[in-house]
Amino acid sequence: MLVAMDAMLADLGAEVVAAKSGREALKHLLERDFAVILLDVKMPDMDGFETAALIRERERSRDTPIIFLTGVDRSATMAMRGYAVGAVDYLVKPIVPEFVRSKVSVFVDLARKNAQMVHQADRLRVREEEARALAAEQRVLIRELEHKNRELESFSYAVSHDLRAPLRRVDGFARALTDKSGGDPTADRFLGNIRESVRQMGQLIDDVLHLSRVTSAEMRRQEVDLSALADLALGRMREAEPSRKVTARVRPGVVVQGDGRLLRIALENLLQNAWKFTGPSREPVIEFGAEQRDGERAYFVKDNGVGFDMGYAGRLFGPFQRLHRAAEFPGSGIGLATAQRVIHRHGGRIWAEARPGEGATFLFTLGR
Ligand SMILES: Nc1ncnc2c1ncn2[C@@H]1O[C@H](COP(=O)(O)OP(=O)(O)OP(=O)(O)O)[C@@H](O)[C@H]1O
Ligand SMILES: [Mg+2]
Repeated sequence: MLVAMDAMLADLGAEVVAAKSGREALKHLLERDFAVILLDVKMPDMDGFETAALIRERERSRDTPIIFLTGVDRSATMAMRGYAVGAVDYLVKPIVPEFVRSKVSVFVDLARKNAQMVHQADRLRVREEEARALAAEQRVLIRELEHKNRELESFSYAVSHDLRAPLRRVDGFARALTDKSGGDPTADRFLGNIRESVRQMGQLIDDVLHLSRVTSAEMRRQEVDLSALADLALGRMREAEPSRKVTARVRPGVVVQGDGRLLRIALENLLQNAWKFTGPSREPVIEFGAEQRDGERAYFVKDNGVGFDMGYAGRLFGPFQRLHRAAEFPGSGIGLATAQRVIHRHGGRIWAEARPGEGATFLFTLGR
């Protein structure tokens, strides 16, 4: 009988373990998991039902499907006993091999899928743990970065602050020397150069200081009328250079949510650039407005000035990066770096579109 069973199930791709008695079957069941148990009702020492009851008592085999095989009794009560101990099926001899095989194969499949699922669940757990660990690591890194950033800011603040004192002395002594030079033109020229360099350095220090303030200042969100800010800034530039005839087109009523002080700095930098780089234009026009860009509201400052080659656009926003010579257009290259920090702190983006000789447009969004 056992041998016949073995042959019947050989091609299922599952391992068949045969036991000659209920006791032996129980021993096997202690050691490993099975997809299905085929149990003869009539066995030497203890019968199939007793064996099944013991099988069910054990944690490991509590849910293992059992199929009873019997040739002795066809009565319904027999079958009922089998079902009472949790049999899944009850087959009466003579056994039809095809029948047994197809039933067993269902359980073998089920067990395989179960094992796969358990395996997948394990893998999922491992992945989840990995993701959690990664997130924790990331949080630590961000904290460190924020800390370093703050340190760097206070460092640059301190440095630029301390640089000013010796600079003032250099300037003071250069002035004293000018008084004593007795009108020697070469000496005066050199001393003038020294004082001009001192002035430039002072400007650089101011700019660095300014930049570090923009980064570290606390954000206060409020309603900000960008149009009003643009009008004010352009008015001031007109006052400072009344000889320049610049057409300004400011779209009224562009109101946003943001930090007014910071946004003023950003907008002024963009407008000052537009003002400066339209210097050579015959009919300079500066425009401020807003438009939809890729589903987002973008604000822009547009001019018809000298423009620039977009090939260098990547450098624009780096501190002290300039695309034009200082002799032509004065400046230290800190304006756009500052504007970018302001926009980033608002969660927005800033970018430029330009062409040499055809002006430039700077656009920014403000996030959320
Ligand atoms: N509207 C513009 N048209 C043409 N080029 C521009 C314009 N705005 C900026 N640029 C280019 O980008 C460079 C960087 O601008 P940024 O405002 O940072 O510096 P800057 O204006 O030279 O100096 P600063 O703003 O510190 O006085 C400029 O030097 C110029 O080459
Ligand atoms: Mg500038």
